[in-house]
Amino acid sequence: MTVKSKSMAVVEAGKPLMPMEIEVTEPGEGDRGVVLKMGGAGMCRTDLRLWRGKEPRPGYVLPFVLGHENAGVVYETGGGVEAFKRGDKVVVYAVWGDLTCRYCRQGYVMLCKNQKIPGQSYYYGGYAEYMYVPDSSFLVGAGDIDLAEAAPLADAGVTSYSAVKKALSKTEPGSLLILYGVGGLAGYAIQLVKALAPASKIVAVSRRKEKLEWAMELGADEGITPEKLRETVDRETHGEGAGAAVDFVGTAESTMNIEKILEGGGCIIEVGMEGENLVMPTFGTTVWEHELIGSNYGTIEELAAVTKMAADGKINSYIVKKRLSDVNEAIEGLDRGEVLGRYVLVP
Ligand SMILES: NC(=O)c1ccc[n+]([C@@H]2O[C@H](COP(=O)([O-])OP(=O)(O)OC[C@H]3O[C@@H](n4cnc5c(N)ncnc54)[C@H](OP(=O)(O)O)[C@@H]3O)[C@@H](O)[C@H]2O)c1
Ligand SMILES: [Zn+2]
Repeated sequence: MTVKSKSMAVVEAGKPLMPMEIEVTEPGEGDRGVVLKMGGAGMCRTDLRLWRGKEPRPGYVLPFVLGHENAGVVYETGGGVEAFKRGDKVVVYAVWGDLTCRYCRQGYVMLCKNQKIPGQSYYYGGYAEYMYVPDSSFLVGAGDIDLAEAAPLADAGVTSYSAVKKALSKTEPGSLLILYGVGGLAGYAIQLVKALAPASKIVAVSRRKEKLEWAMELGADEGITPEKLRETVDRETHGEGAGAAVDFVGTAESTMNIEKILEGGGCIIEVGMEGENLVMPTFGTTVWEHELIGSNYGTIEELAAVTKMAADGKINSYIVKKRLSDVNEAIEGLDRGEVLGRYVLVP
């Protein structure tokens, strides 16, 4: 059996998304699968690369439904689902590992070699009315959070949480933290640093004045353009350099810019994926023992933790709601870098 669902699908790479009726699998008797009625699907910058066909993924075959940042209401459950029932509000962990390999067993599902991601590989995502989740272990209760506000926690929230945790674990309390590239993810990261390490000083880096003003409103101590990075860090650290930076851009240019201002032993937590290669200078990296550390989503436990912080009012989701049928307008806005926070599609 299937549930009929409207979606907005990529039919041709880089061309406007088109309405498409899809058949969402209904879970069976002994099954741990769940069908969700979508409450919101966040639009991530990753979606732009997938839409353009710039980042081929296994099981991404057109026509395809994007959307890996999802929250909804449980609509149908398989007979093997115990933790959730019809009507429960949930956020969907986006990396669907096989749940049997070494990484999955240790909780690092985002490193599973057999992972599938809704809206990226094999499974249709949340740019739709309904979506299928193959195992209820990938769901986290959303409590009373508005579902459109809960949706970006599934990626922007948890990815920022995991990256910020890594950065904080590499620095002394009260040190200077660079957040490079201000968008949907960094909007959470600024708030998370303020909540988890209030003594830290945040320098947010962006090319646009509006983004810098927004970063300051969210709690950044300084908002600067990339050209000001060196002089700002020198002034703030008396020439010693920053202990850690989270790079939400991910180009050869961003890593080169950041590496120059790291202190000895300093690290870049790499999150953004806008360029094909990241570049670190041989001399500086080796002699000053700089590190470049990848950070992919976070764990299911980290998604639960960041969702709890949102439910407790410690962080907010800054969203701009869009109707599912207005997805093309939103894609263009995201591409132009217009949105402050996250576009969230609501069916
Ligand atoms: N590792 C992971 O698990 C993970 C998870 C989710 C997303 N991501 C990646 O993280 C990045 C940020 O995602 P997002 O959804 O927050 O994006 P977003 O909302 O569009 O914000 C990204 C910001 O980065 C800056 N930027 C974009 N392209 C740039 C470029 N080529 N050079 C310099 N600055 C650039 C822009 O700010 P200014 O124009 O103001 O400078 C933009 O506002 C994306 O690359 C995305 O694919 C990674
Ligand atoms: Zn994403």
